[in-house]
This record gives sequence, C-alpha cells and structure tokens, in this order.
Amino acid sequence: MGVEVSVEGLTKSFGSQNIWRDVTLTLPEGEVSALLGPSGTGKSVFLKALIGLLHPEQGSVIVDGTDITKCSSKELYEIRKLFGVLFQDGALFGSMSLFDNTAFPLREHTKKGESEIRDIVMEKLDLVGLADAGDKLPGEISGGMRKRAGLARALVLDPQIILCDEPDSGLDPVRTAYISQLLIDINAEIDATILIVTHNINIARTIPDNIGMLFRKELVMFGPREVLLTSEEPAVKQFLSGDRFGPIGMSEEKDDATAAQEAQLAEAGVSGGGTKDDFSEIIPQVQPNPGMPERKAAARHRERVEEMLHTLPENAQRAIRESQQAEDEIREERQKVDAQNGDGRNGSERDGHDDQYAGSDANTEQFPAYRAGNA
Ligand SMILES: Nc1ncnc2c1ncn2[C@@H]1O[C@H](COP(=O)(O)OP(=O)(O)OP(=O)(O)O)[C@@H](O)[C@H]1O
Ligand SMILES: [Mg+2]
Repeated sequence: MGVEVSVEGLTKSFGSQNIWRDVTLTLPEGEVSALLGPSGTGKSVFLKALIGLLHPEQGSVIVDGTDITKCSSKELYEIRKLFGVLFQDGALFGSMSLFDNTAFPLREHTKKGESEIRDIVMEKLDLVGLADAGDKLPGEISGGMRKRAGLARALVLDPQIILCDEPDSGLDPVRTAYISQLLIDINAEIDATILIVTHNINIARTIPDNIGMLFRKELVMFGPREVLLTSEEPAVKQFLSGDRFGPIGMSEEKDDATAAQEAQLAEAGVSGGGTKDDFSEIIPQVQPNPGMPERKAAARHRERVEEMLHTLPENAQRAIRESQQAEDEIREERQKVDAQNGDGRNGSERDGHDDQYAGSDANTEQFPAYRAGNA
C-alpha cells in the first residue's frame, strides 16, 4: 500500500542561491504524479529533499507520519526503506556489476540469503530487460541500459514510494513506452506512490494522475493532470509545446525587449520550433496491461477530483469529464479482454495479494510484451 508524502512550505537554497521556495504539495497515496519544469529549476534537488539527502531550510516533508526534515538519522534510515529511487544519472557503483548494484539495497537493508537475493535481483533485471547483462559493469553498457539498471535497483525492495528522475532520459521512444507501462503496472500491483520527474511531454500526457511544474523558483501548479494540460499559463503552454518563444529562456528570465522581438517574429510567422499539438485534447491515461489488477488509486483519484472539481477552471472541468468518460470506456473494453482470456485477476479479487508484483507468480511470463527488451 502506498504512502502519502506531504510537503509543506519547503524552501531550499545553496548558500545565497535560492533554488525554490514555499513548495507545498501532497503526493496522494498510491497515485502517480509527475513533476515538470525547465532545466535547473531544482527538480532533482526536490527529489533529494524528499528522501532527506538534502536539507531544506524551511518547511516539512511528512512521510508515514514522520517529518523527515527534523527526524533523527536512525528514523531517516528506516523511512528511506520505504523509497525506491531512480536517480537522474543512475547513480550506479562503477566498480560493481549490474547484478551487485541491484543486489546492494537487499544486502544493505535486509537479512535475506544470497539465493533469495539472486532470485529477486534476476526478477527485477528481467523486468527491465537486462536479464542477460547482470555481469556487466556500468561502464560497459549503454546509457539507456544504465538507466534501466537504476530502475531495477530502485524496485528491488518493493518500495511503497517510487521516485524516478527522468526515467526516459537516454531511452529510445519505444523503451520509454515500456518503462512507462512498467511503472503503471507496478502501481496497479502494489499501489505504490510514484513521482516521475520528466521533460517527456508524452509521459506527462499519458501516465500521471497529477502533474506539477516548477518555474521561477516556485511550484506554479500541482493538481489533476487535466489542469496543467489545459492551462492558459504562458510558461506552461510554452513548456508543453517546446517552443523557444515565451517566458522561458535559455538561462534566466527573458527581458522585455527580447520578448517583444519574439512576439514580432511569431506574428510574422517565424517558428519557435514548438509543436502545434493541442494539449487540451486529453489523451486517455495508460492503463495496466491485461491481467493486471485495476489501479486502486484510480478510484481514489477520481473521488478526490470530484470533490475539488467545482474549484477548477472551466476548461479543466470539461477535460476531466471527457477523460473520465474515455477511461470508463477503455476499462470496460479491458474487462472484456480479461474475461475472454478467462482471467479473473481483475479488481478486488486481487485484494490481499498486493505485496507481490510481476514476480514468480508469472505475471510477466503471461505477458512477454511487458518486458523492456535488451539493448
Ligand atoms: N549539491 C549542490 N550544491 C550546490 N548547488 C546545487 C547542488 N545540487 C544542485 N545544485 C543547483 O541547484 C539548481 C537546481 O539543480 P537540479 O539538478 O535540481 O535541476 P533540475 O531541475 O533537476 O534540472 P535538469 O532538468 O537539468 O535535470 C542548479 O542551479 C544546480 O546547480
Ligand atoms: Mg534534474
């Protein structure tokens, strides 16, 4: 069962450089959230603050009832066992094989014997498509493989909270889709709370229940994905479309003269390089693979959204209604497929088995496409 992470008034600086201030958000238990924001706005710093690797000057981070910004190092050590973290750079130990890297948290945090560790490690490496690469060193594999090895290691303790810093970076589009699907399937199986930091707009559009964005040292919004995707906020629209015309500049904020010049160029039909996609056309959220249980968090998310619906902008409300309808239709179709396959593992029938996922109970064997494939 996932754990809520509640962040209140969090502020972080390095020396005199303020990174972000007064960040308040709740990662609802078991829901999938994404954090967007231009490079250097402090997304990775935020992830590290959530696990107590960096120390904010103000505010609190409550995990499972404990404020990790103020607890003892012993308490922090215990709380960290709830987390599985995929760091931006993979953070693998360079002198250890992928097998040993993946086994590391098990050897460090559990008393499991080597044969059990081997089973778990091989299962997780298999899950990310690296079953044959266990004896390789991080320096001997591709960037995308390192990323996937980092994910295998993040999953090895069956974490209740999964933090992924750019899970897609270094991955080709197809493997990105597999990894995204893997995260949704894991979420369905163990109801883990997930936060994905990403620049990948396709992931942002199709994977999370909630999206937030850091910009100009603040959290500009955090809420149901439809709110950000339909936002009229210039920085949000610019970020989603990936256009160079707009308030987000290469490094700092743009000055007025540059902004005026850009407006002229745009007026004259010069392209800022961005996509003309209409992000307010909400794409249905990716669903768990056939045979996976339904995501319990989906129902909780919907209930939460219903409660706040009247407080949201008109176009967000419309988008939420539409995506709910589309998701209901997809769910019905999926149930039909499951019924045809004679698979009774859907929904509440799986209650009580949530602590296992994609493991020796052959979920992945049933769905070869679920594996991320080698490369
Ligand atoms: N340990 C540190 N000491 C000093 N400054 C740091 C440290 N870690 C990060 N920073 C600074 O904090 C700012 C935010 O960095 P961060 O890595 O969180 O950005 P990001 O949003 O993750 O960017 P990207 O999208 O490029 O990964 C940067 O200016 C960076 O230089
Ligand atoms: Mg980063």
